[in-house]
Amino acid sequence: MNTKPVAIITGASRGIGRAISLSLASEGYDIVAIARTPDSEGMHSLQPEVEKRGSAFFPIGIDIANTSLHDEAISSILERYGRIDLLVNNAGVAPIERKDLLDLTEEDFDRVTDVNLRGPVFFAKKVAREMIWMREQAKNYRPAIMFVTSFLAHASFAHMIEVCISKAGLSMASLVFADRLSEEGIKVFEIRPGIIETEMTHRGKDKFDKLIAEGVVPQKRWGTPEDVARAIASLARGDWEFSTGSVFDVSGGLNIRSF
Ligand SMILES: NC(=O)c1ccc[n+]([C@@H]2O[C@H](COP(=O)([O-])OP(=O)(O)OC[C@H]3O[C@@H](n4cnc5c(N)ncnc54)[C@H](OP(=O)(O)O)[C@@H]3O)[C@@H](O)[C@H]2O)c1
Repeated sequence: MNTKPVAIITGASRGIGRAISLSLASEGYDIVAIARTPDSEGMHSLQPEVEKRGSAFFPIGIDIANTSLHDEAISSILERYGRIDLLVNNAGVAPIERKDLLDLTEEDFDRVTDVNLRGPVFFAKKVAREMIWMREQAKNYRPAIMFVTSFLAHASFAHMIEVCISKAGLSMASLVFADRLSEEGIKVFEIRPGIIETEMTHRGKDKFDKLIAEGVVPQKRWGTPEDVARAIASLARGDWEFSTGSVFDVSGGLNIRSF
């Protein structure tokens, strides 16, 4: 069995997932990086950065929405490392085209909810089963699962209903996983980012710049992938021993409802 703890990060090839991978490597985790292709520029450039931090790097190319590929991916991780200590369900997509709710199609809805909700729920379920088994074999094993949701889990955006619904569903998934898995000694956390500067938000940059300047975000700035990664590193370090099922907003106060 690998002597170092092993973290799986989905959506690791860029943005928030990349920053999470680097911060977990700095925390002493070996890194399993998942994205749709293992051969992207993002994955290639991530590898030496992870290795520079003294961690092993294992890229896996799967579409997280394709549940028929989950078993093989998990088996390949276990064959290589013999353990999985942490799963960060971070991969997610935005709509290809922002449409008014009244123009939403079933294809739009399925595409987003399959990646953002259905895929991560079934992937996490499979990893959880392995963690339960490993917990019985290994000593000093502190397994955890984290779900990266969104401020849109609790805010309406009429041009992104499929994102709102998928993230609200994932938020509830996090709570139910925490409930069921507490008796198995597996901690589960939800990390809820606000407006973070990545490729995902690049398209709406001008609009977000304006909203931030107008004070929508109380801390009046964009979030960075590193803001999210630092929160996850603190959870992964074990600083939150007496917590599970908790929600961590990383949004500069976007979560505050004020009158
Ligand atoms: N940016 C924000 O403001 C913001 C706010 C709230 C929540 N979030 C959430 O944070 C997470 C990361 O967002 P981000 O801004 O870093 O997005 P991003 O820059 O678009 O990165 C998304 C990552 O997910 C991977 N990915 C996409 N579809 C996938 C699939 N079907 N299977 C496996 N991997 C897939 C992408 O890699 P490939 O394309 O190579 O597959 C990429 O590594 C998402 O869940 C997002 O909803 C972001």
